[in-house]
Amino acid sequence: MKQGALSLAVLSGVVSTASAALKVDFGSADSIKAAAKDMAFDALSYYNGNETGEIPGMLGPEPYAGGKYWWWAGSVQWSTLIDYWYYTGDDSYNALVTEALVHQRGPNNDFMPPNHTAGLSNDDQGFWGLAAMQAAELNFPASPIISWVNLTRNVWVSQARRFEQEEKQEACDGGLRWQVPPTNAGYDYKNTISNAVFINLGARLGRWTGNATYVEWADRAWTWLTDVGFLTEDFSAYDGAHVQTNCTDINKIEFSYNSGILLQSAAFLYNQTTGDDQKRWRDRVTGLTKAILDKFFDDGYHYEIPCEGRDGACTPDMLFFKGMVTRYLASTVQLAPFTKDAISKVLKTNAEAAVKTCTGGDNNRQCSFSWAKGKFENETDIPSQLNTLSALTVLLQDEVSQKGVATNVTSNPSGGSDGGNGNGDGNSGQGQNGNGSGNGNGNGNGGSAGTTTRVTVGVLVAGLFAALL
Ligand SMILES: *[C@@H]1O[C@H](CO)[C@@H](O)[C@H](O)[C@H]1NC(C)=O
Ligand SMILES: *[C@@H]1O[C@H](CO)[C@@H](O)[C@H](O)[C@H]1NC(C)=O
Ligand SMILES: *[C@@H]1O[C@H](CO)[C@@H](O)[C@H](O)[C@H]1NC(C)=O
Ligand SMILES: *[C@@H]1O[C@H](CO)[C@@H](O)[C@H](O)[C@H]1NC(C)=O
Ligand SMILES: *[C@@H]1O[C@H](CO)[C@@H](O)[C@H](O)[C@H]1NC(C)=O
Ligand SMILES: *[C@@H]1O[C@H](CO)[C@@H](O)[C@H](O)[C@H]1NC(C)=O
Ligand SMILES: *[C@@H]1O[C@H](CO)[C@@H](O)[C@H](O)[C@H]1NC(C)=O
Ligand SMILES: *[C@@H]1O[C@H](CO)[C@@H](O)[C@H](O)[C@H]1NC(C)=O
Ligand SMILES: *[C@@H]1O[C@H](CO)[C@@H](O)[C@H](O)[C@H]1NC(C)=O
Repeated sequence: MKQGALSLAVLSGVVSTASAALKVDFGSADSIKAAAKDMAFDALSYYNGNETGEIPGMLGPEPYAGGKYWWWAGSVQWSTLIDYWYYTGDDSYNALVTEALVHQRGPNNDFMPPNHTAGLSNDDQGFWGLAAMQAAELNFPASPIISWVNLTRNVWVSQARRFEQEEKQEACDGGLRWQVPPTNAGYDYKNTISNAVFINLGARLGRWTGNATYVEWADRAWTWLTDVGFLTEDFSAYDGAHVQTNCTDINKIEFSYNSGILLQSAAFLYNQTTGDDQKRWRDRVTGLTKAILDKFFDDGYHYEIPCEGRDGACTPDMLFFKGMVTRYLASTVQLAPFTKDAISKVLKTNAEAAVKTCTGGDNNRQCSFSWAKGKFENETDIPSQLNTLSALTVLLQDEVSQKGVATNVTSNPSGGSDGGNGNGDGNSGQGQNGNGSGNGNGNGNGGSAGTTTRVTVGVLVAGLFAALL
């Protein structure tokens, strides 16, 4: 399938060296930092949330309002920039990151702002909670308004309440549904990403606090994912299924971010457990690492199998997965250092392939999505900049080896501290219905329409995928 692409890559290597405006010496941390600075600048050139009348944190209007990206995608930009600061030390964008996370936190500090309730899924909310968690773990400067971990904890608490129970004979014997409000299209779908994000939140809150409750929940949600058949014994992570069929109509499409975030979760759980528990998580880390590298990095760089290479098949959501998975892999190396040999060399070839595409745009240095092409070949956009920025910055592993990943014991009090040991529920949402942050009157219809589009596109891509089998 990718042979054509490979020879193209070899050919165009010559061409792009001649015309590349973005030059990187992969042996030099300074060179990597300088290139990353340009990439970050270009990524931010698309952002206007800091201008008068615009909304901090969002990547422009959502699709139902004529924009390109859904609300959740904003969290990917902020996570990418937190990492950027962590790896390079450049704090140029820290104020924007803080403003974004604080503005989007919602009236109950649980990332359910009323504007977005109408299209709100558990994974959307969770990704914002994970950006806040990452800020705490990496000792990102504290906000005077709210502690990062409090936000994350509130997200987790709201989701633990929504997690359905076998004992109550709830749908599919448990698990989280995709959408939060029952009125949203997609409320009848249970999927891997929503549950994997919940597991990830728990894995990280568990390591941060040392409180075993989070780990027990992560374990329980992981067990559900395997029982229901979304995560297989050979570590394939399928997309999800509908409650009407008791989750038997499994959509077997495999997106890289599903297995990627499960891998990072397992690494966090491995890092904080001992004995047999630790062995179990270690086996999962090993299995997922192998599955991800074999499937998505077969040629040494990320190829998003379910959609890449077919015109228009990657929706704007899917265009963000490469950067996310890069960061999950790098984080796994930190938390589960026994994976370093396997992962680090792939991160290097991945970054080299990504940077080859960075010859586009007005300044001849912007990057494109398909790294298999070995050259710039598509319009410039935010996800391509963020993907490549992550691919490049994670090469600075040695720069951060002393910094580590903090817990509430090791965190710098001016950074990730959660203002004491608060374990409370905060003020988070009012349970199952996700009504805690208001009624989303503002754009209810538009949001639903947008959600339907997402579902339709998913089905379409699944169809394309099935046709290939
Ligand atoms: C918004 O942030 C960008 C990137 O840091 C910066 O270049 C721009 O001047 C800022 N705009 C305003 C209005 O502050
Ligand atoms: C919600 O929408 C209003 C009106 O556009 C805007 O002023 C506000 O910043 C938005 N809040 C969030 C969290 O997006
Ligand atoms: C870390 O969090 C746990 C659980 O909330 C708490 O018991 C412990 O005292 C905290 N440790 C520090 C140093 O804050
Ligand atoms: C552990 O975390 C859970 C969930 O947030 C909380 O209900 C419980 O009180 C915490 N336990 C301790 C000992 O801090
Ligand atoms: C639903 O599926 C689960 C396995 O995921 C099974 O244990 C349960 O019996 C099924 N329930 C019904 C009503 O078929
Ligand atoms: C170009 O990018 C768009 C998304 O920005 C995508 O839908 C399309 O498939 C890409 N074209 C090619 C040839 O990769
Ligand atoms: C846990 O993660 C830290 C990174 O902060 C790392 O130094 C340590 O070696 C890891 N522990 C294990 C058991 O791998
Ligand atoms: C964090 O939340 C706890 C209760 O959940 C609260 O006591 C504490 O003041 C909060 N800290 C900050 C800095 O918001
Ligand atoms: C959500 O809140 C609104 C307004 O507070 C209320 O009318 C509605 O019944 C609630 N919906 C659910 C499903 O609880």
